[in-house]
Formats: sequence, structure tokens, C-alpha cells
Amino acid sequence: MSEVYDKLLRCYRSVRKKISFEPQVALILGSGLGDYAEQQVQVEAVLDYHDIEGFPVSTVLGHKGRFVFGYIQDIPVVIMQGRVHYYEGYAMSDVVLPTRLMGMLGAKVLFLTNAAGGIQDGMQAGDFMLITGHISSFVPSPLIGPNIEKIGVRFPDMSEVYKKDLQEIIRSTAKNCGIPLKEGVYVQTSGPNYETPEEIRMYKLLGADAVGMSTACEAMAANHMGMRVCGISCISNLAAGIAEHPLTHAEIQETADRVAPLFQQLITESVVNIAKTINDIC
Ligand code: HPA
Repeated sequence: MSEVYDKLLRCYRSVRKKISFEPQVALILGSGLGDYAEQQVQVEAVLDYHDIEGFPVSTVLGHKGRFVFGYIQDIPVVIMQGRVHYYEGYAMSDVVLPTRLMGMLGAKVLFLTNAAGGIQDGMQAGDFMLITGHISSFVPSPLIGPNIEKIGVRFPDMSEVYKKDLQEIIRSTAKNCGIPLKEGVYVQTSGPNYETPEEIRMYKLLGADAVGMSTACEAMAANHMGMRVCGISCISNLAAGIAEHPLTHAEIQETADRVAPLFQQLITESVVNIAKTINDIC
């Protein structure tokens, strides 16, 4: 058996010793959404990453590291409060371990959120962007290494990672809530440094609308194992060279915090609307 799968199973068993909850939807929370679970979820159980045997534990300041199990209205969800980033030094297989784990726990849908730098013309800090596709070519694939046949095929198709029907649900949810929603392509970089203006010009030429240090790898791992993926970026800043000032983590956090209430509403309403159709589409 592969080492990666071995580790995944160890984590799975460690969780299952403590938690029997069966989530339908998995949610990964980006910057600014740290309080989402407390605000929007009827919490049934909480599990610190530290308490899962073999689990990669995040080191970024301000990121809580735990799974929250509970209900959004009557929908069983598992939420990652704090994700694992490649720039922390983990192997990509560790970065996506939590995503795979949530899939193994039963989640059929993965709802990704993040803070990202805006590249698309006309974007402003505080905008939301529905992710319609991604560019992951600047980070290693999380699927490198022996394939885990039990969860997916060796050469998985990636032509519709962000499912069109889920996109449409999020689009119409935003419209009904009166929340403006941009759309575009997310490019993942390794971080931890922000990009140079020259890199941002390149990403724009390549078709990227927003840039960040997460998400695409998680989306790929989830797609590989047959989870249905969707995602929204909070444009927390204009990307380097588009912004007229140097980027700081503090600015990004401040914007993400400022628009968090609206982001929370958009996520909750979208999850509810996605769950209504879950038996039809999964
Ligand atoms: N670049 C990369 N990652 C980010 C950014 C950015 O401008 N903003 C938030 N995350």
C-alpha cells in the first residue's frame, strides 16, 4: 500500500475513533472566515488537528487548526478551520490529506474558499469571485507518486473541476441575495512571498483573474476522488503591480475580515441551495 494512503487511513481511523458524524458537504475556510463555524453552524463536534494521528498541523498565525462537524440548517457539514499550505513546507500529499479525509468521511461536495489577489480588470478589494477554473501549473500536482487506486484513477480528467451546475447554483444564490459576484480563473502559486508585478502580468496573459496560495491543489485532489467541487475567492487585495502600494498580510486580513459577514451569508445560502439538489447531482 502507498505511504500516502497508509497515512490517510491512519488519520481516518483516528477521526472515526472519536467522531461518527457523516458530512454531506465539506467546506474549507479561507482568511477572514475563521468565525464562520461559530456564526453559521450548529456545532456537533470539534476535532483539533493535533488530536488526529499523523495529521499535518498548520503553523500560520491566525489560522485555527481544527475540523468542525455540524449542521448548516439541516445539512451535515464538515468544516476546516485553517488549511495546510504548501509554503509551510509540507509535501503536496500532506497539503491535500485533509481534503481527502473529508471525502472519506462522506462529503460529496467540496466548497472551497480563499482570499486572493485580484488580477482581472475592474476588480476591487472586497469583491467576491466565483471560481470557474484554475491554473495549477506553477505548483506540483498533489497526485504525484504512486496512484491510490482505491480513491481515483492514475490519469484523472480535469476538464470540469468546478462543476458547472454548482457554479450556476452559486451564481443564482448571489443574485437572490443581492451580492455582486465576479467570475474567473484562479492561479495557485507556491507562496509564501507575494508575486512580483512581472509575474502578475504573466498570469494575466495566461488567463488568470485571481492569484493565491491554496485551493487548486485541494480541488484537484477532490476531483481525483470524485468529489464535486466549487469555490469562491474573496478578493482581499489587488495583486502586485496593480495595487499601488506594497502588499501586506495585515491589509489582506483586514479586507477579508471586513467583508466576512457578506461572504458568510453567500456561503451559507449557497450550501443550502446546493444541498437541495445533492441527491440529484451526486
Ligand atoms: N497573492 C497571493 N496570495 C494571496 C494574495 C496575493 O495577492 N492575496 C491573498 N492571497
